[in-house]
Amino acid sequence: MTILDLSATELLTTTRAVRKRLDLTRPVELELIQECLQLALQAPTGGNAQRWHFVVVTDADKRAALAELYRRSFAVYRDSAGSAGALYADDPQRAPQQKRVMDSAAHLADHMHEVPVHVIPCSEGRAPMAQGASSASMWASVYPAAWSFMLAARLRGLGTCLTTLHLVHEQEAAELLGIPYDRISQGGLIPTAHTLGTDFKPARRQPLADVLHVNGWSG
Ligand SMILES: Cc1cc2nc3c(=O)[nH]c(=O)nc-3n(C[C@H](O)[C@H](O)[C@H](O)COP(=O)(O)O)c2cc1C
Repeated sequence: MTILDLSATELLTTTRAVRKRLDLTRPVELELIQECLQLALQAPTGGNAQRWHFVVVTDADKRAALAELYRRSFAVYRDSAGSAGALYADDPQRAPQQKRVMDSAAHLADHMHEVPVHVIPCSEGRAPMAQGASSASMWASVYPAAWSFMLAARLRGLGTCLTTLHLVHEQEAAELLGIPYDRISQGGLIPTAHTLGTDFKPARRQPLADVLHVNGWSG
C-alpha cells in the first residue's frame, strides 16, 4: 500500500471533490477502505456516542441501482435554479468555477455506476425526528468521520467526493441495501476510487476576511 508523501498542510489543501479523475477501471481492495474507515473512527463524536455506521457497496448491481437513484435526483438538481451551474451566474469571478463544478458533477452522475466503491456514512436515528441542535449534533457526529475517511483515502491514492443527491431517494436506497430506514439515517454517498495521477491543487475560495468575525458578527 502506498502512502503519498504529503505534509499535513498539503493533505488539507489538496483533498478535492474528485469526479473526472477517478480511475473507473482499477479495483479498490476492501482492506484499503477498511483501513481508511479505521482511521475515520478517531473523529469527534457527540457524547462519545459513536452512532456512526458506514455501508460500503462494491456489488456491481447495487452500485448500478444507487447510481440510477443518484442520476434521477441529479437531473432535477441540474435544471434547478439552485444548482451549482446556475449559482453566481452574474459574478464574473465565480461563474466559470461554478460551470466547471457543474460539468464535473454531470460527469460523475454519468459514471456513478462505474465507480468501484460507494461508501454511505450513516447515523443511528431518523433525521427528520432530530430538530435544531439535535439535528446539528447528529450530523456533526458523522461528517467529521466522513471527512477523515476522505483524507485517509487521499493519502492512499484514492479520490472521493462527498455527495448528497441520492438522499432524495433515501428510502429506496435503504430498501436496496437492507438499511433499517426507520432507525438509521443516511448522510450521503462517497464514490471512492484510485485517482488518475496524484497531484491535486488547492481550490480558489472566497477570502477569509469575508467570513471571519472576531468577537462578534461584523459586516
Ligand atoms: C454537504 C455536501 C453535499 C455535496 N453534494 C454533492 C453532490 O451531491 N454531488 C456532487 O457532485 N458533489 C457534491 N458535493 C461536493 C461539492 O460540490 C464540492 O465540495 C465543492 O464543489 C467544492 O469542491 P472541492 O471540495 O473540490 O473544493 C457536496 C459537498 C458537500 C459538503
